[in-house]
Amino acid sequence: MIRRKYIDAFRKLETPFYFYDMDLLVRTLQEYSSELSKRGYKAHYALKANADPRILSMVRSMGFGADCVSGNEVRLAVESGFPSDKIVYAGVGKTDKEIIYALKADIFCFNCESLPELEVIDALAGKCRKKARVSLRINPDIDAHTHSYISTGRKEDKFGISEYAFDEVFALLEKSANIEFAGLHFHVGSQITDMNVFRELCSKVDNVVGLFENRGFQVQNINMGGGLGVDYENPEIFPVPDFREYFSTIARNLRSAKGRTVHFEPGRALVAQCGHLISRVLYVKHGQTRNFAVIDAGMNDLIRPALYGASHKIENITSTGDYLEYDVVGPVCESSDRFGSSVSLRETDRGDIIAIHSAGAYGQVMAMRYNQRKIAETYYSDLI
Ligand code: LLP
Repeated sequence: MIRRKYIDAFRKLETPFYFYDMDLLVRTLQEYSSELSKRGYKAHYALKANADPRILSMVRSMGFGADCVSGNEVRLAVESGFPSDKIVYAGVGKTDKEIIYALKADIFCFNCESLPELEVIDALAGKCRKKARVSLRINPDIDAHTHSYISTGRKEDKFGISEYAFDEVFALLEKSANIEFAGLHFHVGSQITDMNVFRELCSKVDNVVGLFENRGFQVQNINMGGGLGVDYENPEIFPVPDFREYFSTIARNLRSAKGRTVHFEPGRALVAQCGHLISRVLYVKHGQTRNFAVIDAGMNDLIRPALYGASHKIENITSTGDYLEYDVVGPVCESSDRFGSSVSLRETDRGDIIAIHSAGAYGQVMAMRYNQRKIAETYYSDLI
């Protein structure tokens, strides 16, 4: 729900823009932290979900570390004040330059995704006269039951090291003089709402931890990744995900947690619901079979519907008319530039303001300049 005083302020602003509800962000971070710390777990915020400077600063000030997937994300985390010993770095395609930067920044650990990467990190660490702390990202062959594009833990996915390669991994770890084995990392996908996926993950983690320890590798850290989903259909009823259910599922099922540090990498669950994409209606076009509400935000501002068929709740926040059905589309020259089909909106006219909710995660960070459109501005609830 966007409060009336903000809607009044929106009327004076050029659209489209991202609007962040900072109170909801703080409440979400607090609820997450309180469930996390009950169990002594540690969290690294996945910067890829939203790298807005004020959001990063809020996340950092609440004690979160950073989860990065590129050298530039590591740099941004460092420059945003995240302590280097709370930064983790994953990604299947780390370049030499990125690895050297992260080594010099003395990050907590690399989450290494393949054997050749492990060899390269070892060699580069040797050259830099550093010891590289490395956790191995494991591909546990789990179907996260989410969109195929954001499933990362099935054996056909490009991510992580699968069990068939463990003997080679053990041999490589033994001879890698510049690698310090820090633990195991898992991330099986995003927008996961079925707790059974996390139950299954826990049992795989227990199993893999056992395999490593039987071979004499002490697993000090277990990183369970991110992936907890949010409610895109009812954001106003469930603005904060059920962190209690999530962490108690992990606590009940992860037997190997005892005596080890358990880490998480939340992205979406922390920031999705505090963000809204605010747009104006340019035209209402009455077709023979459908009504189109053409708005001034496009797929370049929020690509999730075009890329994943994702559905975000859409609301006309300035109309009081009756509900009618519209296809809500943007101005970009692609038919996939569509935020929703047959969306029930209050009767809509040119100039009305449309809010696309739950846009805080993977919204602004994935924006692009296709059609030479400009990157949308940002406003915050406490500064508007
Ligand atoms: N850790 C790793 C290694 C990841 O790759 C990701 C997300 C996360 C943590 C955070 O996952 P989260 O808690 O946000 O689910 N653009 C897509 C989502 C891509 C997720 C990429 N990896 C979307 O808009 O749905």
